[in-house]
Amino acid sequence: MSKILQNDLFIRAANSQQTERPPVWMMRQAGRFMPEYWEIKNKYSFLEMCKTPEIAADVTMLPVNLLGIDAAILFSDILVTAEAMGGNLSFEQGVGPRFSNPVRTKADADALNADSLDKLQYVADAIKEIQHRLAGKLPLIGFAGAPFTILSYLVEGGSTRDFKKTKLMLNNEPELAHSILQKIADLTINYLNMQVDAGVDALQLFDSWANALSWNDYKEFSHRYNKYILDNIKRTVPVISFSKAASVFAPLMIESKPDVISVDWNADLKNLKQSLPEGIAVQGNLDPIVMYADKAVIKKKILELFERMRGEKGFIFNLGHGIMPDMPFDHVKYAVEVIKEFRY
Ligand code: CP3
Repeated sequence: MSKILQNDLFIRAANSQQTERPPVWMMRQAGRFMPEYWEIKNKYSFLEMCKTPEIAADVTMLPVNLLGIDAAILFSDILVTAEAMGGNLSFEQGVGPRFSNPVRTKADADALNADSLDKLQYVADAIKEIQHRLAGKLPLIGFAGAPFTILSYLVEGGSTRDFKKTKLMLNNEPELAHSILQKIADLTINYLNMQVDAGVDALQLFDSWANALSWNDYKEFSHRYNKYILDNIKRTVPVISFSKAASVFAPLMIESKPDVISVDWNADLKNLKQSLPEGIAVQGNLDPIVMYADKAVIKKKILELFERMRGEKGFIFNLGHGIMPDMPFDHVKYAVEVIKEFRY
């Protein structure tokens, strides 16, 4: 990394270098828990916000200016790749993402177009606009959804609790699942390379729902494609591999050689870190629900985690999963303050 950033704590930690305190950013840091987000959201649909570079940049900058985090993350969604391939995507209030044309047959799979990077040009435009506004102050994280997680939304047609239709496909028609996963992976490689070319300083691959899979299914239907992506993207910026099940699947995840593994709160972060090869950093892993607790508790839990990680090179603070829409803004802000005051 030749770029000079005013605040490079996040990049140094992602590269497993010593930092004076852990850097902080939080998944879903630009979202509905902020009144300022609603001021924008009330005027546009979520997809309009993602697809209009000026608005995506406005929203990306909210937590930079209001929370003071150490890294910005592109305002977008993991499902935009699925939409670019032909998924009819909408976001309904209280329901979440929906695909009105779920992918369940060979004909559905054949209709998906992996050669559709041009439909995602608005993301490159947003990245350029955000970098213009960040002006070297902070690093910008780009991202994509991992093939298995994207597959689950395409097959189910939305969010699911039990992944029944997806798992039936994996079991009954594995070749069909592989043909879809391969298409998603191919587009994702081009998409992440486009983000690097547009100027992101790091990448995160979100395999949020890999926790639904058995070890063998994770290996065959998730890990294989994540590794294919990491093997084929430009490795000029640090890459974070996130999964709710990272603490279980870390022994496989390290085969893809991510720079950082981002884990949920089930893991003891120090034990996990020490089980990883030298040079792989960890990100996490406070239980997001702690953000609802009293401020004194928030402080205590953060300091406990930091004491546990004292002496470890390569640690980025994050929550184990995203900020929830009803989390009190002042609690999240307080957490950031506690972290920024801390010194090893
Ligand atoms: O983290 C950030 O602030 C950056 C932007 C971002 C969003 N989604 C914004 C968003 C990122 C990185 C994501 C990733 C994403 N999207 C994931 C992986 C992370 C995770 O949570 O595991 C997943 C699984 C999705 C799919 C998705 N998008 C869901 C399930 C939902 C609905 C969530 C809900 O609680 O209703 C979305 C919509 C979404 N993505 C919103 C935001 C701010 C809310 C949209 C709104 O304003 O209504």
